Amino acid sequence: MIGVFDSGFGGLVVLREFLRLLPQYDYLYLGDNARIPYGTRSDRVVVRFTEQAVDFLFRLGCHLIILACHTASAKALRTIQQRYLPVHYPRYRVLGVTIPTVEEALARSRRKRIGVIATEGTVASRSFELELRKLEPAVEVVQQACPLLVPLIEAGEQDWEGTALILERYLQPLKKAEVDTLILGCTHYSILSGQIKALMGDEVEIICSGQVTAVKLVDYLARHPEIESLLSRDGSRRYLTTDLTPRFQALASLFMGQPVDSEVVEL
Ligand code: DGL
Repeated sequence: MIGVFDSGFGGLVVLREFLRLLPQYDYLYLGDNARIPYGTRSDRVVVRFTEQAVDFLFRLGCHLIILACHTASAKALRTIQQRYLPVHYPRYRVLGVTIPTVEEALARSRRKRIGVIATEGTVASRSFELELRKLEPAVEVVQQACPLLVPLIEAGEQDWEGTALILERYLQPLKKAEVDTLILGCTHYSILSGQIKALMGDEVEIICSGQVTAVKLVDYLARHPEIESLLSRDGSRRYLTTDLTPRFQALASLFMGQPVDSEVVEL
């Protein structure tokens, strides 16, 4: 199976794109809703939580896991790839959302002035900035942490006028810096992509990781038959969460664009 992990249900926007481009595979989604947010936690805790999730998904039969969470990709992916996998699951793979997003942003940016909005943790890790510079040393990067957006989206307040005001305030420095491309560096933010596009203007390219990661996954599987051949193809989907409330269910449907039947699990 292909495992898709997020700190909550935001990663469903990534899974949704996988299902569109690669519907033949079996998917197991895990949202750590009991411990969201990851965006305000220390590196050590994000690594520990993400390792637990990855371990859980491997034990349930996943062979490839996508961290559909920018905070986990920024803070835990490298440690998992370099220290955890070689010892525990040398034949399996864990991939993230940062690199596909960065590659797409650079491809679409004309003047190489790129803005990033993300959680506090992702911004503090400077992962986007570092990865962008590795591929394009001359790139200008303007980062903005948006700590209020995840709680507002989680509270179902994406259409509230207060959210629009807060968003406007967060986007102001990026507009001032005249970025030509804006990375939505947190899976939750795609819910606000219409409002973000309207505030930034038509000239600015908005990069959402869902579609971008799905396109890169198609390419990855074509280039890695040793991983692709491990994946089962019955078109099944299972949605797991570490906590479930009626609000989470509503949120899952919002992210997925259709009702989601989630099972509660303990990691
Ligand atoms: N899923 C997280 C991300 O993409 C956002 C929510 C959180 O803070 O855990 O960064």
